[in-house]
Amino acid sequence: MLTNKYFILMTCQKQSLQNLGILISGRGSNMESILKTIKKQKIPIKPSIVISNKANAKGLKIAQKLGVKTLLIDSKGYKNKRVEYDKRIIHELEKNGVTSKNGLVCLAGFMRVISPYFIKKYKNRILNIHPALLPSYPGLNAQEQAIQNGAKFSGCTVHFVDEGVDSGPIIIQSVVKVRNNDTEQTLSKRILVKEHKIYPEAVNLFARKKIRLSGRRVMILD
Ligand code: GRF
Repeated sequence: MLTNKYFILMTCQKQSLQNLGILISGRGSNMESILKTIKKQKIPIKPSIVISNKANAKGLKIAQKLGVKTLLIDSKGYKNKRVEYDKRIIHELEKNGVTSKNGLVCLAGFMRVISPYFIKKYKNRILNIHPALLPSYPGLNAQEQAIQNGAKFSGCTVHFVDEGVDSGPIIIQSVVKVRNNDTEQTLSKRILVKEHKIYPEAVNLFARKKIRLSGRRVMILD
């Protein structure tokens, strides 16, 4: 039988569990890695909803198989209506407990630029993964950019989302050596392996409140 003290403690822990929303557009391999790591390594966060802006996103089926609620909010017709579209996303996030007070939003291959409205509302609660060592090679085709520029090292970065393109404070990076014979495909493949490691790591740090921001610098607490 539970003592009162233990019961109160358990209730408090339950209440403070944050809710995670993941936004995808396609393959969803980073989403998969985050969801599986949450389960396996017991990251204290609840995967509440996966939202895709594309009906054919493969990640939707993967999330369903992993028992996570999914939703399609098709972005067709919303090309120049960024805030309007984002408000629909925010509405669903909130309905599922991913709030600006108690939520974390992970962009995982979400191929839409999100609006300043969304970013302000979820200040320092939106993460993204980028397949390069930022601030080098932001934007599209980062792996190709690294090869074309003759970089000897590239990698990946998990960062907070701010109003610029891939310009928010850096949380974790992982380095990958660029080989002489690398193509965009071979380099992307090796970078992806590292992405699958550092994105769940960043979610874990956030969930355990181990991240402190000081200006643009992110301090990881022990
Ligand atoms: C990854 O390379 C990620 O770095 C970039 O988009 C890709 C998404 O892949 N932002 P996936 O959908 O997670 O498999």
